[in-house]
This record gives sequence, C-alpha cells and structure tokens, in this order.
Amino acid sequence: MAREKIFTGPADGAVASTVRSSAAGAPAANAFDDRALDEELRPSRLADVVGQRKVVERLEIMLAATRMRTEPLSHILLDGPPGLGKTTLALALAKELDVECQITSGPALAAPKDLLPYLTNASGNSILFIDEIHRLPAAVEEFIYPVMEDFRVDIVLGEGLNARTINMKLKPFTIVGATTRSGMLTAPLRDRFTFREHLEFYEEADLAEIVRRNAIKLRTKIDDSSALEIARRSRGTPRKSNNLLRWARDFATVKQKEGLITNEIARQALAMLEIDVLGLEEQDRKYLRTIVNVFGGGPAGLAAIAHTMNCPPDTLEDEVEPFLLRCGFIQRTPRGRIVTASGLNHLSG
Ligand SMILES: Nc1ncnc2c1ncn2[C@@H]1O[C@H](COP(=O)(O)OP(=O)(O)OP(=O)(O)O)[C@@H](O)[C@H]1O
Ligand SMILES: [Mg+2]
Repeated sequence: MAREKIFTGPADGAVASTVRSSAAGAPAANAFDDRALDEELRPSRLADVVGQRKVVERLEIMLAATRMRTEPLSHILLDGPPGLGKTTLALALAKELDVECQITSGPALAAPKDLLPYLTNASGNSILFIDEIHRLPAAVEEFIYPVMEDFRVDIVLGEGLNARTINMKLKPFTIVGATTRSGMLTAPLRDRFTFREHLEFYEEADLAEIVRRNAIKLRTKIDDSSALEIARRSRGTPRKSNNLLRWARDFATVKQKEGLITNEIARQALAMLEIDVLGLEEQDRKYLRTIVNVFGGGPAGLAAIAHTMNCPPDTLEDEVEPFLLRCGFIQRTPRGRIVTASGLNHLSG
C-alpha cells in the first residue's frame, strides 16, 4: 500500500508559514482565486493531468528512467504563467515516485540558514519543491549551487582570519523549481537544472475537460456547452476554469431550482463577473483603456502604466500582459507597450 509521503517540510508550523508567505507574496489575483480550492481539485497523478501532453510525456520518460536506475530524478525547472499547473506537476512527480516532497518558496528563504533544515531533512531521492525560485536572494542562490551539483553544503564559520569552511555531504535528492519569470533567473542557477519545461496556455477542449472532471469532484452537474463556455473564458488557465466553475456552481445553487449549471445560467454567472466573451476581465480592459486614453495608445512604459492604474507592475507583467499578448491585443516593444488595432477593436466592440 502506498504510504502518503507528501509532507510540507521539516517543522510543520514553520512550513505552514512558508506556504502561506508564498501565497501572500504572490501578486494579488482576482477575488475568486482560492488556493484551498486548488488543493481540492488538483490532479494528484500524472495520468490525471489534462493537456500539456508534450511536457507530461517527457516527464514520464524521466520518471521511467529514474525508476529503472533507482537514482534521484534530475533537477527540473518548471516555468510558465500562474495557474497552469507547475505546483500540480511537482507534487505529481513526488507522488509518481512515491517519495517525500518538501515545499518552500523563494521569498521564504531569506538567508542560507532558512534553507538548511530542508537540505538536512531531505531523504535520499526525495523532492524539494521551491516555488517562485526567481525570488531567491543572491546569497541563498550561491549556497544552492554546490547543493545542486554535488549534494554538498559549504558552511562558513567565524570571520576574517579565523573563518573556516565546513563541507557537509547531503543525501542525493531532486530540486524542482517553479517560476513565473524564468527570465529573472540567473544563468548559473538556470543551467544547474538538467531539465527545463515550459508550460503553455491550455486549449479550450482541455479546459472543458478539466471543468467537466472538476464538476464531478464538486458534485455539481454541468452540460457540455456550459463547460465549453467556461473554458472559452478561462484565458487558457486551469486555475481560472476552477474559479469560474466554483462561481457558476454558487450562482446555479441560488438561481436554478435544481442547482444545474445550464448554458443560460453559465452565461449569466459569467456576465455578472464582467468577464467578456474572450475571457478578459475588468482589470485587462482597464489596462487597455489606460494605454489608449492616458498614453495615446502607447508606447508606454510598464512602470508608468502600473502607476496610473495603481497596481503593482509585477501583477501586470505576470497576470495581465501574457494573455493580452497572446490575444495580439498589445505589443511589447523596447520603447514600451502598444495597444494593437485588434486590441482597440475589442475595446470598442
Ligand atoms: N493539467 C491540469 N489538469 C487538471 N487540472 C489542472 C492542471 N493544471 C492545473 N490544474 C488546476 O489548476 C490549479 C492551479 O494549478 P497550479 O497550482 O499547479 O498552478 P501553478 O502553475 O503552480 O500556479 P502559480 O504560478 O500561481 O503557483 C490546480 O489546483 C488544478 O486544480
Ligand atoms: Mg504554484
């Protein structure tokens, strides 16, 4: 019988705060983001992961080879916009290998000493998942290099002439890093990951499948056309699909006698959230309107747009721009952001 080995870290209290601080450090998403819901709906096995076929196939090969050689999995870096399944994949890898998985995140590791308990607690072949790894401070990053290459930590004791370095050998284990900004990773850190996987936005059909499966998990009924309607407006992101599904379920519970998510109910629910046919939210439209009305359509610098919108630049860069770029509604040029003709069209349409 497979033992549940996923645990959250060396000291439960300490790591609970680690996980919390990572959530708090993330840019504020829309009000319907609910990380507890993530846990409930997250597929736990690789076989249940919908979409991302190429990534999953490559991970399966890595897993098979690892199992045959009984070695630790090579270090893996997962990158891609928020809500596409980086955490899901990292946890699924641990589950597939039936090994422990410790979880921490870049902002929670302020100094090398914060990382040390995770390293000494890592059992052989286990996984250490570092979320938001682009936010590791430089000192921790340098500390991690020998860990990743030789499973060794170098600890400096004392100062000046009396300083001594102690080398400590660690059990071989795997670091899985996740980042929404692979560009912010330094080259030495990036290169120490043997495998790098980039997650792409999901196809509508895959999202509709996720909605249908999760409707069953949430014990609610949804017809195929409504699942597709939710998928279409989820901006290629499963987390958005989950959030919209949960909202549609609440809406149906209140507005429909049997609590069914019919097409009409789904449309009304989505309209109430002000999510348009392409999945743009009020924040996305406000971003486009700001560039058009305040900056004459652009080019406008990210910082200037962020100031005008009174919104952190990180949120715009991670959560708003990737989707607008994908829709072809904006261009990112060296001189700043520009709203394209189709972006203008969508705004006026
Ligand atoms: N391939 C998938 N199949 C089914 N559900 C998925 C898939 N990917 C993600 N999800 C759902 O979307 C939710 C968000 O995914 P996850 O937390 O893994 O994203 P993430 O990339 O780690 O995001 P962040 O960058 O914000 O940490 C999961 O809880 C899960 O329910
Ligand atoms: Mg995550």
